[in-house]
Amino acid sequence: MKRPTLKEVFELEPDGRSLVVKGWVRTKREAKAAVFLEINDGSRLANLQCVFEVPQAGSALAAALAKAGTGASVAIEGSLVASPASGQKVEVKAVGLEVIGEAPSESYPLQKKAHSLEFLREIAHLRPRTNTFGAVARVRNRMAYAIHQFFQERGFQYVHTPLITASDAEGAGAMFQVTTLDLERLAKSGQGVDYGKDFFGKPAFLTVSGQLNVETYCQALGRVYTFGPTFRAENSNTTRHLSEFWMIEPEVAFNELPDNMDLAEEFIKYLLKTALADCAEDLEFFDQRIQKGLVESLGSVLDKPFAHMTYTDAIAELAKSPEKFEFEPRWGSDLQSEHEKYLTEKVVGGPLIVTDYPKEFKSFYMKMNDDGKTVRAMDVLVPRFGEIIGGSEREERLDNLLRRIEELGLDTSTYSWYLDLRRFGTTPHSGFGLGFERLLLYVTGMANIRDVIPFPRAPKLADF
Ligand code: 4AD
Ligand code: MG
Repeated sequence: MKRPTLKEVFELEPDGRSLVVKGWVRTKREAKAAVFLEINDGSRLANLQCVFEVPQAGSALAAALAKAGTGASVAIEGSLVASPASGQKVEVKAVGLEVIGEAPSESYPLQKKAHSLEFLREIAHLRPRTNTFGAVARVRNRMAYAIHQFFQERGFQYVHTPLITASDAEGAGAMFQVTTLDLERLAKSGQGVDYGKDFFGKPAFLTVSGQLNVETYCQALGRVYTFGPTFRAENSNTTRHLSEFWMIEPEVAFNELPDNMDLAEEFIKYLLKTALADCAEDLEFFDQRIQKGLVESLGSVLDKPFAHMTYTDAIAELAKSPEKFEFEPRWGSDLQSEHEKYLTEKVVGGPLIVTDYPKEFKSFYMKMNDDGKTVRAMDVLVPRFGEIIGGSEREERLDNLLRRIEELGLDTSTYSWYLDLRRFGTTPHSGFGLGFERLLLYVTGMANIRDVIPFPRAPKLADF
């Protein structure tokens, strides 16, 4: 038989079969009659208990046990028996122990005690060995898979959009430049920059969104999505922003804003349902240790429709609020995170879709409403941190789109291919972007976005 993962071992009957298990020691406890090693291999949250008889002094087993401290990698030979301890069906009655790699307690940074999340951020290469980060990684994995399942089950085609681009998909100018020019030499020489000599023959950047590219495939394949890394050079040092994050962007031809809202709601509910069903042990852990009431609050989202509100109504709600905000809510200014929290937590008590925002702070590609002031935008907001999804119906009318690009002072030439989609066989179409790490904040209850991605990138932070 192939060596089972510990998750698989937990599902076996305690029939006395002999087996070898491998993993890392989480705790060692020496009692009068036995030595207990709890090991974990990351396949699930629970540790497997391995029980040794107290070894004779000076024996090989005694020497091995002495080296098997927290963090050591081990192979344990024994038989699978029923466990008398509560909460676990099986344990290993151990007879052999090989310490594969020691983790000396004087220098190993992770000890048995609980460590702060701040401290663990400084040892991002070791933190996946903790319960919290193991659980985050497993939920992240399951959600990534569920995203593909959701779209594939509904006839969407997965499109790979480029990471290097010459056009600003959001028109917001928050892009990292990609260049092979020798900046230091250019600065010293005092010459200007000639992008004709740069790698791509023109300025190039890391993409802020795959949307514009995925729209081209939408206008041929109908239902498409992209799922990949995106980059934002905004100087936002918050618990909700990363400089490199993953985004899921579906785009559907002939869909109008209400269809887009329905798709977003169905999508979020599918992901929550999957997490509750398939990550139950990890979510229970987050509920106990990170965010009390998490499981119940996620479950309650499944039963009722998402609330809907226009931006104008949202501003009116905020104006009525007895709460004092740091930023006064005013028609024409973007909603702040404190406003989004108030609306979701105090007004609707769950997710909320806000639509029809003023054009001033939304992107150039959003469809103009007949009032000439607002656009067919939608943000999905959730309790605890606010925006989880941003999307819109797209402007499919060539004249309107050209006018917006010019009004905003963007360079029409870099969007010429995008404008062709409106010149040839244009259709109403809509899509949105779900921030993958925002989804994980929501599902795990973790408070800081830097703790739901393995290696966070943020201003002045590119370690590991
Ligand atoms: O609202 P955003 O900027 O929308 C777009 O990029 C559109 N092109 C999406 C589309 O319509 N296809 O970003 C979408 C989502 C946000 O709602 C948020 O969840 C996440 O991406 N996001 C970030 N997540 C982490 N760090 C950042 N700096 C983020 N900026 C946006
Ligand atoms: Mg947004």
